[in-house]
Amino acid sequence: MAILEQAANALNDAKTIVCFSGAGISAESGIPTYRDGTTGLWAGHSHQQMETARAFRQNPRLIWGWYLWRRQQAVRAQPNAAHLALSELVRRERPIPIITQNIDDLHERAGSLEVVHLHGSLSSSKCFACHRPALVTPAPIPEEGLLVEPPRCVRCNGKLRPGHVWYGEDLPAGTWKSAVSLVENCDILLSVGTSGVVTPAANLPEIALSAGATVIHVNTDDVGSGAPNELMLIGKATEILPRLCSPLVTEDHA
Ligand code: APR
Repeated sequence: MAILEQAANALNDAKTIVCFSGAGISAESGIPTYRDGTTGLWAGHSHQQMETARAFRQNPRLIWGWYLWRRQQAVRAQPNAAHLALSELVRRERPIPIITQNIDDLHERAGSLEVVHLHGSLSSSKCFACHRPALVTPAPIPEEGLLVEPPRCVRCNGKLRPGHVWYGEDLPAGTWKSAVSLVENCDILLSVGTSGVVTPAANLPEIALSAGATVIHVNTDDVGSGAPNELMLIGKATEILPRLCSPLVTEDHA
């Protein structure tokens, strides 16, 4: 049996499906993945260097300018066929929950209602000094490469920083617990467009497998671990997901 058909049958039989997504699902909306590295005027600055408290302390104008530009990129991007296919996938008359590492809002803009953002969101900012959320959302900027002085916190006059999770920081309170609970209680974890290298998020497929679920990977590279309960669908998310999630093959028999 072809692997796509096998995966579609597994989805058909599943009562509980959870999706886990990474940067690859937004790649075809024009948002580069982390493994692609930085491009244009940001080439030479790695995500791993830029998304740290140390980098912000050393050069807040660079980090704030980069953040506003990335927000602009996300605002301009449109949800693609993969985001839409997931938003239309229904189980027991409920849309499936999505756990995402992405800080864009393309799942929400595609219509998905339950989205757990493990790494926070590009739309939030907070104070670098007192850590409280910013009261006003700063506007994104269209120009790449601008150095921008971060605005000040209205409460303590500290500099504002991006609100999403930087390297070495804890995940937003409660999100990890929610994610683990979802994957421990699903029949299928549909893992889309993630390299599986950044923990703790990267542990979710293994947690699902240990709890007895089947993991279906959709990725342009082979990222499977070779476990018996895994299915590896190699290809673009926009090409595979609409076929895999088509109502014809995923009609709910529960
Ligand atoms: N369709 C499916 N998969 C794709 C596509 C596509 N069109 N394009 C790329 N991919 C795959 C790549 O093969 C790769 O495995 O998406 C994955 C992207 O990997 P990463 O860039 O590492 O993204 P992600 O796994 O989300 O990274 C995790 O790392 O830097 C941190 O916090 C950041 O959330 C991020 C985390």
